Amino acid sequence: MQRLAPALREDNVPLDLISLIKTVLAATKEISFRVSQAHLGGLMGSTLDENIQGEIQKKLDVVANELFKDILLESGFVKAISSEEEDSSVPGDENGKFIVSFDPLDGSSNIDINSLIGTIFSIHEAPKGMAADDPDMFKQAGNKQVCAGYVLYGPSTMLVMTTGKGTHFYVLDRTHGGYLLVERNVRIPEDTQEFAINMSNQRFWHPAMKNYIDDLILGDTGPRGKNFNMRWIAAMVGDVHRVLCRGGIFTYPADSKNPNKPYKLRLMYEANPMSFLVEQAGGLSVTSEGRIMDIEPTSIHQRVEVILGSKNEVETCLSYYKK
Ligand code: F6P
Ligand code: MN
Repeated sequence: MQRLAPALREDNVPLDLISLIKTVLAATKEISFRVSQAHLGGLMGSTLDENIQGEIQKKLDVVANELFKDILLESGFVKAISSEEEDSSVPGDENGKFIVSFDPLDGSSNIDINSLIGTIFSIHEAPKGMAADDPDMFKQAGNKQVCAGYVLYGPSTMLVMTTGKGTHFYVLDRTHGGYLLVERNVRIPEDTQEFAINMSNQRFWHPAMKNYIDDLILGDTGPRGKNFNMRWIAAMVGDVHRVLCRGGIFTYPADSKNPNKPYKLRLMYEANPMSFLVEQAGGLSVTSEGRIMDIEPTSIHQRVEVILGSKNEVETCLSYYKK
């Protein structure tokens, strides 16, 4: 099995980006270890603080964020970082060539039940002529990402990453401490019979989404003429990973539960990196109005509707919005 750096060189990834990716992965190895030891180290449960999103921070969220932030900012490769757990962007090295957005621990509600969680990251080039403390550096569309990925802290610690030359799977090999390539150029099947959505929000959805899901549930007795199964891990990393492995549609649609917060998932460090991975694997990733990676961001923590996965199924879902 191929090690990470040679696999990246095969894709002609520039050396400075390879160095940054190695730095990102050094952080994930330590987070992976801390996650596995959380109960023993007194890291279960919540802090008394809220993040900028108004969500209570888990102790492990804070530890993962500090680890990731410190390792990246000390590396010299990074001009600034932005994180789900930081109010604003944090400046790094003025000469750093890249900026990194990340969700240090996605799926935090799974921490205390020893279920799937992961780290999501997105890398852009730092725009020239802007100061390291200028948060406007992060106002770049997802289509400008040079690398995106996530690390899933599951039964095995898995890295899923793209630099724009396909989406590849790697597994952390604890015998030598590095990630090994296990699957190159993952492809998402175009058709599926599996969907992922939080059904408890059903009464708050747009009628188009409601009609679409109703038809999936009708199965072979309805217009789709086939049965669908449902899965919901409640961690985007886990649900997207399943879609990459065997297809499916995953959506967190707009809802009217809280009129001030129509969307749940964050553009910069959830939707954009996942969109890059999904598109590089032949899937689609959109809102009901267009491609996610073409959205011009207006703020670091902005939220967005997400519909992603198997190409034909995502197109079928969108057709309900046009009816
Ligand atoms: O980060 C937000 C998140 O935890 C995602 O990882 C996940 O897909 C979603 O929220 C779960 O939402 P809910 O709490 O509605 O199930
Ligand atoms: Mn998250």
